Amino acid sequence: MRTQVGIIGAGPAGLLLSHLLHLRGISSVVLEKRGRAYVERRVRAGVLEQGTVDTLVEAGVGARLLREGLPHRGIELRYGGQSHRIAFEKLVPGRTITVYGQQEVVKDLIAARLEAGGDVRFEIEDVAVHGPAAEPYLTFGGERLDCDVIAGCDGFHGVSRPSIPPSVLRLFEREYPFAWLGILARVAPSSEELIYARTKRGFALHSMRSPTVSRFYLQVPPDATVAEWPDERIWAELKARLETVPGFVLETGEIFDRGVTPMRAFVAEPMQYGRLYLAGDAAHIVPPTGAKGLNLAVADVRVLTEALDRFFSTGSADLLDAYSESCLKRVWRAQHFSWWMTTLLHTFDSDDDYGRRLQLSYLDYVTSSEAAATTLAENYVGLP
Ligand code: FAD
Ligand code: PHB
Repeated sequence: MRTQVGIIGAGPAGLLLSHLLHLRGISSVVLEKRGRAYVERRVRAGVLEQGTVDTLVEAGVGARLLREGLPHRGIELRYGGQSHRIAFEKLVPGRTITVYGQQEVVKDLIAARLEAGGDVRFEIEDVAVHGPAAEPYLTFGGERLDCDVIAGCDGFHGVSRPSIPPSVLRLFEREYPFAWLGILARVAPSSEELIYARTKRGFALHSMRSPTVSRFYLQVPPDATVAEWPDERIWAELKARLETVPGFVLETGEIFDRGVTPMRAFVAEPMQYGRLYLAGDAAHIVPPTGAKGLNLAVADVRVLTEALDRFFSTGSADLLDAYSESCLKRVWRAQHFSWWMTTLLHTFDSDDDYGRRLQLSYLDYVTSSEAAATTLAENYVGLP
């Protein structure tokens, strides 16, 4: 069996790459470890930058996103008993973000690939990468798939990054001393905009998925388990961290999804080896406070698509050779922004009174200086 691009992983990166390549007449096969229902149900990101929305719409997979996605023209920072709005329409005119669940993006992409007769295979558990330095091929289930190029879109725990010799890779990593407990609840959002709340008890985030479904996150200890967080405890803690300004009431409802996500940052450099190219979480992870992970995956895929198009249409590998360097500038900007948002809004056990005062002083600066607020806004909506 032969294809031009062998893609490992049917997350947003792998599916979008396969779809964009199809639009350029380039063949691919997508191999995914999990079942279709599992990847369509996996609850994760929710904030799409303008550039991500534009990419999906231009690729013809944005109809439902434009119909059901919730455009947002600002976010709220809540701390010290006050609300402060970061107004995108004033600070970065014309740029917004759209709240639309990652699993909805995944569903739309799978539907588009299958409708176009794309080759997306689920429940392929034993993918192995061979010869990425020169003649790449993949094996799985006794089959062999020869490829001109392999795209490793298999997330942080995948097989593609470990197939690069360790001597070639430089890894950068930071673990945060806390995790996020995330839930979905059947209740209308209690706020029109996302609320990022810093309290002495820890960070909380009020997000949403639709007019009837809300999404919340709580900063929890790094080893927290879902079992330790029954519904009553979750709602009590969310109320304690969000009902901190006069008149704000958090509505509650049935919790129908919950999970704990460790907070970590990670970058592998370079994002390529021979004819293997890494995209998305396979190459880098950010803590979710800046809402950048999915958007970075989409940005990588845009760069890789252009490079592959050039390679297959002209034979020139110049853009492919420059792939990692082209992506890493954006990746590191997002790393810094995600670290900055995380540091600004979470409580750290290691912090003393001095550290806490510094954090509050910085929050005051961000919410009172137009220059500082613009820095937050332009990074949040996404740099061009
Ligand atoms: P993944 O989505 O991880 O997809 C990789 C795929 O590869 C998976 O389907 C996996 O099953 C498959 N795979 C793995 N190993 C193998 C193998 N050996 N063989 C075959 N297939 C394999 N980002 C944002 O931009 N905005 C947000 O608001 C945001 N919020 C987040 C909230 C949470 C709680 C979490 C956890 C993440 C959040 N992110 C956010 C990050 C975002 O979800 C990820 O960055 C995004 O999923 C990356 O997409 P990907 O396709 O690179 O990787
Ligand atoms: C989400 O809605 O899932 C979400 C929103 C903002 C973030 C992270 C996650 O920073």
